[in-house]
Amino acid sequence: MAQKKSVPELKHLDHVLVSETAIKRRVAALAEQINRAYRGKDLTVIAIVNGAIIFTSDLLRQLRSPLRLDCIRASSYHSGTHSTGKPVIVDNLKLDIKGHHVLLVDDILDTGNTLSAVHELLRAKQAASVRTCVLLDKKERRIVPFEAEYVGFEIPNEFVVGYGLDFNERYRNIPCIGVLKSKYYAGKI
Ligand code: IMP
Ligand code: MG
Repeated sequence: MAQKKSVPELKHLDHVLVSETAIKRRVAALAEQINRAYRGKDLTVIAIVNGAIIFTSDLLRQLRSPLRLDCIRASSYHSGTHSTGKPVIVDNLKLDIKGHHVLLVDDILDTGNTLSAVHELLRAKQAASVRTCVLLDKKERRIVPFEAEYVGFEIPNEFVVGYGLDFNERYRNIPCIGVLKSKYYAGKI
């Protein structure tokens, strides 16, 4: 079998925090948990783009409920690794979620600003229920109290890239999750 070509920017990583294999296993376990919780129910999955694109695509293909997919855009990081506080949420949802069970998916729960704001917006649209699934949780960084029902990995307070997560819009295509060498963050933190 041909050797899988690695992403050249893998060389920019100082270290890997979560391997590709660990992600695969954990996503399967999360899907299993979600399948059990929503058995016999119709589901509306709402992904926060761009960060949640890769996680959502892997998770979605393992969900067994009849489901619909929509995306919402939120950005709090305009550059660098520091949140600008209040996120900008573009409410461009196409689906009517009133009376529907919603699973909100994001890449990472950090300060809690984004997810608490999006969660509130979905509740205001009178969803029957809203639960949250994140791949990563940086508990130490929480400013707004918010907990997700489904969490892939709790990680320490380090800025990570890969598997959909970016630094200045780069590195989303790295298949694992890791921390960049400091020179690549230089001057932008
Ligand atoms: P919060 O609003 O501070 O919880 O931040 C949520 C958003 O910030 C996430 O959806 C990510 O896009 C971004 N973010 C937070 N921490 C990281 C990180 O370590 N790497 C890349 N993006 C991050
Ligand atoms: Mg994001």
